[in-house]
Amino acid sequence: QELKLNLEQIEKGGYDHFMLKEIHEQPKAITDTYRGRLLRSEAIIKMAGVEDNMKKFLNANRFIIVACGTSWHAGLVAEYIFEDIARIPVEVEYASEFRYRNPVITENDVVIAISQSGETADTLAAIKLAKSKGAFVFGVCNVVGSSIARETDAGAYTHAGPEIGVASTKAFTTQITVLTLMALRLARAKGTISSSDFRHHLLELEMIPKKVEKALEEDEHIKKIADIYKNSRNCLYLGRGYNFPVALEGALKLKEISYIHAEGYPAAEMKHGPIALIDENMPIVVIATKKGHYEKVVSNIQEIKSRKGKIIGIVTEGDEQVRALADHVIEVPETIESLTPLITTIPLQLLSYHIAVLLGKNVDQPRNLAKSVTVE
Ligand code: G6P
Repeated sequence: QELKLNLEQIEKGGYDHFMLKEIHEQPKAITDTYRGRLLRSEAIIKMAGVEDNMKKFLNANRFIIVACGTSWHAGLVAEYIFEDIARIPVEVEYASEFRYRNPVITENDVVIAISQSGETADTLAAIKLAKSKGAFVFGVCNVVGSSIARETDAGAYTHAGPEIGVASTKAFTTQITVLTLMALRLARAKGTISSSDFRHHLLELEMIPKKVEKALEEDEHIKKIADIYKNSRNCLYLGRGYNFPVALEGALKLKEISYIHAEGYPAAEMKHGPIALIDENMPIVVIATKKGHYEKVVSNIQEIKSRKGKIIGIVTEGDEQVRALADHVIEVPETIESLTPLITTIPLQLLSYHIAVLLGKNVDQPRNLAKSVTVE
């Protein structure tokens, strides 16, 4: 028994929980994921699975992304970047809905399946359906040799390393990394990005691990905020554009491990419902980084403030406008808009982690949840 305990402690590498270890592993995991693919000095991206099937990608009428849970959120981020820089129409589908909907799929569709485990039953079934209709299916998996990795026509692995905590963290940011590399590669091939913009993206992507490290330094500050809000019954997460999926993911993390009811919403959609919930007891996490729809988010924050909601702003370093309005701010380093999800996700992971720990919850194995859902 004692030996087993010690072994687990060694596996956790000095961290209290796997989740915390995995959150802190993100700078390395992201680096491992772009290593050998992002060649900045040559200004190219090399991905064998994309290169070998370039025709399929370039001739595609649209991409259909299928996934579940956190991987579905990575798919939503990918929708923004594929459309934005590669000008490819994208649909993002819950695998469980897609598989039973009699969806229209043609041979000119490219289906991208995203899955950390590579074993999620619904995602696997969605792939089989797409294949039977003649679509080209590409996998983005973390577990090498998994069922989804084997079932797809081609793919690109994330190199996050084993993820043990049930709540997904480093799998999410590495999925976004792979999908971003794909979008950039395809944008270059299609000529929808200029060479200087492409180089700028490569440079910024290469700097992300350092910026994630910087974002992780806010840990103690976030713990204090967690302590203030740990007994909340509800929590709202708002973001716009690239950070809308991050808001969804932040809310999912809180639900999964602390059992606090949380909703993610596009910030502007707040006035069509969630605003009715806002009072002095409602904490609202707002992603309000400088690049993107900053001014619009600031006016959303003003609306929250006038209803006395408690505002936790995720802001760019040096921000003053949101700081003046918010109850708390958590700073993150600046990057280009398309890459902000890789950084804004970090404080949200830490916030839910600390709330769950302070509430004495089982962070690594939350009730009712499984790391991989291999049955319907
Ligand atoms: C489960 C896990 C989630 C994960 C989802 C999809 O619900 O608890 O963390 O996001 O499955 O899993 P996959 O392995 O397909 O990414």
